[in-house]
Amino acid sequence: MAATLSAEKPEHAEAIERVLDRAFGPGRFAKTSERVRERGAAPEPRLSRVALNADGEVIGVCRIWRVEAGAPLYFLGPLAVDPAAQSAGLGLQMVQDCVAACRAVGASGIVLVGAERFFRPAGFTLVPAERVSLPGPVDPKRLLWLEIRPGGFDKVHGELKAPSH
Ligand SMILES: CC(C)(COP(=O)(O)OP(=O)(O)OC[C@H]1O[C@@H](n2cnc3c(N)ncnc32)[C@H](O)[C@@H]1OP(=O)(O)O)[C@@H](O)C(=O)NCCC(=O)NCCS
Repeated sequence: MAATLSAEKPEHAEAIERVLDRAFGPGRFAKTSERVRERGAAPEPRLSRVALNADGEVIGVCRIWRVEAGAPLYFLGPLAVDPAAQSAGLGLQMVQDCVAACRAVGASGIVLVGAERFFRPAGFTLVPAERVSLPGPVDPKRLLWLEIRPGGFDKVHGELKAPSH
């Protein structure tokens, strides 16, 4: 299925909600990552990506948020592809595009909660023990990061919080 990627725009909001509902089901708000977002992480629509099908309909989303943990960094998620469009490479493509967008604005790096097997091809690795925490339980085997700027994570430590500016 041909798809194009675009930065997130306000007019995508409703369709994004539908994709998230279809991909995650009713458990989507129970995730600890949601606690980070609802505690004031700053959305970065310019760095977030939607996937659009040939009719211009949203079939995937990968959102980026500005957060802080001792130093500024970005938080990735949710990532979702409509079930009808999964397993065609779109998920990884959106992640790689978001990484490129973050790199282009000089980001230190990105943290996320997800499956290492899925995110490894985009360069993500396990966060070293105790370096970063979230406001709620997270399986340490699913806490991943990608340093973009060399040394960008040197001062990163502690709980992911809303950015102070
Ligand atoms: C995860 C998701 C975004 C991947 O999107 P996608 O477009 O299907 O991904 P790609 O085509 O780039 O890659 C597909 C491969 O990812 C791998 N994969 C998908 N979900 C995975 C998971 N939860 N854990 C590990 N690997 C996974 C599989 O190996 C799959 O290959 P397969 O189709 O041969 O089984 C999509 O499956 C989805 O929306 N899932 C529901 C929501 C979700 O779990 N989001 C991720 C939260 S971290």
